[in-house]
Amino acid sequence: MVKAVVLGASGGIGQPLSLLLKASPLVDELALYDVVNTPGVAADLSHISSTAKITGYLPKDDGLKNALTGADIVVIPAGIPRKPGMTRDDLFKINAGIVRDLATGIAAHSPKAFVLVISNPVNSTVPIAAEVLKAAGVFDPKRLFGVTTLDVVRAETFTQVYSGKKVPSDATVPVIGGHSGPTIVPLFSKVSPKFEIPADKYEDLVHRVQFGGDEVVKAKDGAGSATLSMAYAGFRFAEAVIKASKGEKGIVEPTFVYLPGVAGGDEIVKATGVEFFSTPVELGPNGAEKAINILDGVTAREQELIAEAIKGLQTNIETGVQFIKNPA
Ligand code: NAD
Ligand code: LMR
Repeated sequence: MVKAVVLGASGGIGQPLSLLLKASPLVDELALYDVVNTPGVAADLSHISSTAKITGYLPKDDGLKNALTGADIVVIPAGIPRKPGMTRDDLFKINAGIVRDLATGIAAHSPKAFVLVISNPVNSTVPIAAEVLKAAGVFDPKRLFGVTTLDVVRAETFTQVYSGKKVPSDATVPVIGGHSGPTIVPLFSKVSPKFEIPADKYEDLVHRVQFGGDEVVKAKDGAGSATLSMAYAGFRFAEAVIKASKGEKGIVEPTFVYLPGVAGGDEIVKATGVEFFSTPVELGPNGAEKAINILDGVTAREQELIAEAIKGLQTNIETGVQFIKNPA
């Protein structure tokens, strides 16, 4: 039996993500939590004839506790999205407190659940969640994930656009680093199956992957950021975690993890100097089984991109850690 919980379930991502989870045969129970509208969203989704039992909770009457109790997987898209002109770091002021409070609830009511953080800025909100879980003595690095799958989905999509190959994807494109602008590093030298990106298209392609979020923010013109593609990506990652937890082998997805707590992670810390990093991770029954180091053999240009990403990540990670360790 799998109980999935969505925190921030009434939002632009939360609703379509909840729809995908409700429709999934992998989910037996789905609990929706938000500060508004969950009774309506849950009532609406409950008319879908899939098997998952669905409930909706608000903060009153111990809603967070009741939503989280018995959870196997908790997905967090709670928090404000960007408007044009904003960076993801501009969201920190509000979203840091939201993620801290939700992680506190997880520590108390579902400390063994897999926790998938979507709320931005991911490079800082994942360290915040880790610090909260650490302080409560329940941190298991194998069970905490920053969801960077949308970067992978974009890289796969744009690679097809530039290469002229057809959708659906037949290319796996690893994207490493973090989840904002220059911290996002697609490694086209590691694309499988291999193909050449024309030299005159390479920089454009990298830029589109790094700044794909901005394209959507601009097109939505004040009405938020990516929601539908994010719900697709969030579901893809949640499905991978659930399938691996049920024993399916060979599932690998890039995700932003606390490396020192995951097998193979120390080698990547040595190479990058950062403890949180997105890298392909082999998933298993207990979550992140192995962090796979794909830094060897990258091109000189990719090395430059990685160095740039590390600089940004160091600041973002420290901002998240200090928010919990030394609150102002
Ligand atoms: P949204 O405003 O449409 O929805 C956010 C929801 O969170 C709202 O329903 C709101 O009521 C709820 N919420 C606020 N405070 C809460 C709390 N304390 N507890 C529970 N719920 C709470 O925003 P959105 O477009 O769904 O985006 C959500 C977040 O996801 C943003 O921070 C956005 O930047 C981020 N995001 C991340 C990625 C990624 O790749 N990781 C992609 C897209 C968006
Ligand atoms: C994205 O990559 O689409 C999200 O992180 C949302 C954003 O702010 O761009």
